[in-house]
Amino acid sequence: MSTIFNPEKLANEYENESPEKIIKLALENFNNIAISFSGAEDVVLIDIAKKIQSDVKVFSLDTGRLHAETYRFIEQVREHYKIEIDVLSPDTKSLQEFVYKKGLYSFYKDGHKECCGIRKVVPLRRKLSTLNAWITGQRKDQSPGTRITVPVVENDGAFSTPENKLMKFNPLSNWSSTQVWEYIRSNDVPFNNLHEQGFISIGCEPCTRPVLPNQHEREGRWWWEDATQKECGLHAGNLKK
Ligand code: ADX
Ligand code: SF4
Repeated sequence: MSTIFNPEKLANEYENESPEKIIKLALENFNNIAISFSGAEDVVLIDIAKKIQSDVKVFSLDTGRLHAETYRFIEQVREHYKIEIDVLSPDTKSLQEFVYKKGLYSFYKDGHKECCGIRKVVPLRRKLSTLNAWITGQRKDQSPGTRITVPVVENDGAFSTPENKLMKFNPLSNWSSTQVWEYIRSNDVPFNNLHEQGFISIGCEPCTRPVLPNQHEREGRWWWEDATQKECGLHAGNLKK
């Protein structure tokens, strides 16, 4: 990591810059950096990064509960961009114990935190311990409740350790959903077929549903829970802000 890299200063400087400029800043300053790809419209991060640098690192958290369309889309992206995608699985032992004890749909009864913890957060922590920086597709407009202050670059307070100060880039933070989709259409970027079926925000199959006209995209995620707390732990830092 560059010793002069100051995320607070750069977040101010780059607040009104394009995602291209922010991704360039990230790739120029960090070699050991990867894009966290959910299999949804954050594919634009890959498209932009590939135009800057050919050997882009990408990982995806395979919770085991994604839609079939999302698995197919991850493969489509791998082939389209000719990239490796590190598809991460949960720890077998803790997952089996959890499912044995609580079944496959416990999140409808006692909340999504435990399942997301095992299927997403622990594998993410394992991956991030091997990186110096990561790039996410978080945007302010995805969640007025939890993402309205997401800076374009920040120290990752949730996943940094004393040994590894981790930097987190959110190049799409200031883009609206409309801008993301304008980019997808005008650059012929492949997209997840679920978007053709009314899905906007896409996560795991049991915890995602399409939204109705004028419903906010986040209402299709963990719809049985309190709207202000809809973070699964990947971006836990947002809840403290
Ligand atoms: S979530 O925390 O509520 O699930 P969301 O779906 O809004 O996140 O996506 C925001 C960003 O988090 C994505 O653009 C991506 O960078 C990261 N992310 C979410 N889900 C995954 C996943 N399954 N694998 C990798 N990254 C993910
Ligand atoms: Fe489990 Fe739902 Fe979280 Fe996926 S989104 S890890 S199925 S609680």
